[in-house]
Amino acid sequence: MSAAGLYVHLPYCATRCGYCAFVVTTDGSSRDRYLEAVEREAAILAPEAAGVAFDSIYLGGGTPSLLPPETIARTLATLRARFSVADDAEVSFEANPEDVTVAAVANWASAGVNRISVGVQSLADVELAAVGRRHDAARARAALETLVRSGLSVSGDLILGLPGQTRESFLASLGGLCEAGVEHVSIYLLETEKTKTIEEDRRLHPDRYLSDDAQADLWLEMGERLAARGFAHYEISNWARPGREARHNVKYWLRTPTLGLGVSSHELWGGRRRANVSNLDNYLAALEEGRRPVALDQAVTEAEAAREEIFLGLRLSAGVPADRIAAFVVGSQDVRLWNDYEAWLAEGILERTDTRIRFTERGYLVSNEVLSRFV
Ligand SMILES: C[S@@+](CC[C@H](N)C(=O)[O-])C[C@H]1O[C@@H](n2cnc3c(N)ncnc32)[C@H](O)[C@@H]1O
Ligand code: SF4
Repeated sequence: MSAAGLYVHLPYCATRCGYCAFVVTTDGSSRDRYLEAVEREAAILAPEAAGVAFDSIYLGGGTPSLLPPETIARTLATLRARFSVADDAEVSFEANPEDVTVAAVANWASAGVNRISVGVQSLADVELAAVGRRHDAARARAALETLVRSGLSVSGDLILGLPGQTRESFLASLGGLCEAGVEHVSIYLLETEKTKTIEEDRRLHPDRYLSDDAQADLWLEMGERLAARGFAHYEISNWARPGREARHNVKYWLRTPTLGLGVSSHELWGGRRRANVSNLDNYLAALEEGRRPVALDQAVTEAEAAREEIFLGLRLSAGVPADRIAAFVVGSQDVRLWNDYEAWLAEGILERTDTRIRFTERGYLVSNEVLSRFV
């Protein structure tokens, strides 16, 4: 069995960005209680993970970089004390550009972080301001320079579809990110339906947003530019230089066991999918009373596992075994799915490699539609 992964959600943010629908809070008053709660959760989960090897930790948020470095060090030390974490584990950490300084990066590194994912989102000031980011382009460039110089593995996030974004401004952000020397890039299509503010803005001012067709063209163009710079498109939203794929994130798509700690975190463990409560007070109260903060706990049946293997695995450019997907489609006895599957292959949305089925670059553009048929 591949080694497992550990995720910890750290929900504190200085301010909330216009597009963000993650479970976050801008009220830091519960921070100490929260970190104690995470430690209790680690203690509760540890017996379930006895004898299991872990080779990745992901501290995500929220804004982990907002917490004092001593807190990060203590959290990582707790995880290492409670779980069998490999010495050479990938330890990823989400940082916002405004928190990145030479001293902070040195502290994160000495706490054991070896990979930083930085939320650049754009390198155009108007776009950053439009969604309430706390940094401007100059700050993001400075953060990238500091991070790349530190020698840690650096990933940068961009969003395609921000208000005010144009083809040229997006490609300039992409070029700037690559030229800064990152080895991993995550590019997300702005999910406008996640927040009322952005959805409303898009309805009132459609002219501020790239059309779906323009976004689709830009998506393909961006892929070509990244390929020309030596980045492989290994997952729908992720590109990496050879060997720099996010080890932890790949576990989600391959259904490798992961434990999730913290408010709203999810996990696949012992053949069960579990999700923590997404209300911070409920999370704290549960752990303070010695209870697990679980809102959902369901065994994954064999049929569900087969389905998950397809809709998660197809996100990866490696795709899924052709015989597994064919068996699923035939076994579903859904004639429409069968016809559509044949059509996706005939139209070049999906392609067959030797023994596997995967999306083509063009196919990724309609991947939501295709994947939703397997969910
Ligand atoms: C969990 S967030 C936290 C990262 C960090 N706090 C930051 O703001 O940079 C991770 C990434 O999700 C992406 N994201 C968040 N909300 C999104 C949305 N509505 N649509 C598309 N991408 C989004 C952003 O690129 C962000 O960097
Ligand atoms: S995008 Fe990042 S900084 Fe902004 S609210 Fe979401 S988690 Fe916090």
